[in-house]
Amino acid sequence: KCPSLELIPMIDSTNQYLLDRVGQLPQGAVCLAEYQESGRGRRGRQWLSPFGSNLYLSMYWRLDAGMAAAMGLSLVVGVAIAEALQSLGADDIKVKWPNDLYYRDKKLAGILIEMTGQTGEAAHLVIGMGLNVAMTEQGGSEIGQAWTNLAQACSGLPERNQLAATLIQRLYETLEHYESVGLDGFIERWNRLDNFLDRPVKLLIGERVAEGIARGINNQGALLLETEQGLTPYVGGEISLRGC
Ligand code: ATP
Ligand code: BTN
Repeated sequence: KCPSLELIPMIDSTNQYLLDRVGQLPQGAVCLAEYQESGRGRRGRQWLSPFGSNLYLSMYWRLDAGMAAAMGLSLVVGVAIAEALQSLGADDIKVKWPNDLYYRDKKLAGILIEMTGQTGEAAHLVIGMGLNVAMTEQGGSEIGQAWTNLAQACSGLPERNQLAATLIQRLYETLEHYESVGLDGFIERWNRLDNFLDRPVKLLIGERVAEGIARGINNQGALLLETEQGLTPYVGGEISLRGC
């Protein structure tokens, strides 16, 4: 199911493209680009988006406002992408709380969910995903953290159309499923995929740092951090997780 698909060679941001057209989009409308001039990540950070077979994909989704406000959606989308990549032969794909995909401790993909306005009970969301497919060292030279690409995680890269189609289909089905079961149906799956499960981590919370052992997520989508004081749930868009 994909009621509308636009493939644009060069764009500022696929998320921005859909955000600008929200009133005119059917549920599940997709925009794909080959290059983004101003690809973005969380909190105004840059998503480096060179030409060269990476995937820059956004999907429009109209969701119940309560569900949209909850923490769960980027976690659920992470599960959808990880499972889709596994179904295409990628091994060892992991998720990192709250919005990244990892392969062997390096960033493979990022998820950015943006919301524009509300009509009645519905929120209008754009769910963006940037996946490194075959980005070269040179293409990714400005990225300030360890990164990788799908070519490293697969013995043979899937055909490009099949990759895009599988991701779109998985995302669509997962969003429909999330609407009926909420985060509860995904917690175990997310925890199994967690790159940092039972590992020492740091949470950067503004100026504050909390250290402990990551113990997966709870049913609110909060990250559970175990310290000498016990298990504390951390939730909120301003938190960044780092391995120790
Ligand atoms: P966190 O999400 O934990 O706060 P983060 O550093 O991953 O931390 P994000 O906003 O999720 O931050 O992602 C943006 C960051 O991702 C950039 O600051 C950059 O370090 C990195 N980045 C940018 N482009 C790419 C890319 N194509 N592949 C991998 N990483 C990238
Ligand atoms: C992150 O790790 O912070 C999220 C990165 C999300 C990047 C994707 S690429 C497609 C879509 N368009 C954007 O401008 N950002 C998202």
